[in-house]
Amino acid sequence: MTSWWLDELRTAGAEHLDPAYVAGYDAKAQVDPTDDIDTLRSHGLNETSTVVDLGAGTGSFTLAAARIAGSVIAVDPSPAMLARLRHRLTTEQAVNVTAIEAGFLSYRHTGEPADFAYSRNALHQLPDLWKVVALRQVAALLRPGGIFRLRDLVLDAAPDQLETTIEAWMARAVEDPAQGYTATDLAEHLRSEFSTFTWLLEPMLEQTGFEIVEREVRASIYAAYTCRRR
Ligand SMILES: C[S@@+](CC[C@H](N)C(=O)[O-])C[C@H]1O[C@@H](n2cnc3c(N)ncnc32)[C@H](O)[C@@H]1O
Repeated sequence: MTSWWLDELRTAGAEHLDPAYVAGYDAKAQVDPTDDIDTLRSHGLNETSTVVDLGAGTGSFTLAAARIAGSVIAVDPSPAMLARLRHRLTTEQAVNVTAIEAGFLSYRHTGEPADFAYSRNALHQLPDLWKVVALRQVAALLRPGGIFRLRDLVLDAAPDQLETTIEAWMARAVEDPAQGYTATDLAEHLRSEFSTFTWLLEPMLEQTGFEIVEREVRASIYAAYTCRRR
């Protein structure tokens, strides 16, 4: 480990390390992995596949993938998130999942290269320089032709559209923090996390060895990419 390497717990988000926040996370985040699972199936996800879920959180995608894939590796640096994920694995008897306490930067993949990598709303925890390091490591853990499905909060706005895009996003925020993300939550996200622009992230993906084969952006802020590792 080099002396300048980032300690991912410092950027992991205090709330993600807080067991009380994690206890309410599933009700707040309301994650439905169906579309992403369908997309990965259309790219060959099946019972022989290995999937790595980076920033797996409480494991909603991990559990859905484990019902189809041969094996899933769920990676997250937060002990609180992993404790909740492990509890769900036990409850659902998901014996083909390995949970690993690590992040994009500290995870070391061993064994055969993976067929699929996935990440939802976790890459923005890293500043852009470290996003590039992270994406390079995602490419390195995939086999050539392997698929990376990336979903995150990414601004699809020109510099002079920044304020209107953010104001429109905040206007759609919910009132109840237990049921979703409030305008206060979104403001905190913008101040303390590292969402970037589509016109920065897409070249990062290309530069780190991916071809973007599908791109969806909703409401100029929610982006999903299916990328093929070259
Ligand atoms: C908003 S949650 C998303 C969790 C899950 N992917 C989901 O969609 O519900 C962000 C997750 O990223 C994790 N995280 C923070 N920093 C990370 C890093 N450097 N590498 C990987 N995951 C990270 C947090 O611990 C947290 O579980």
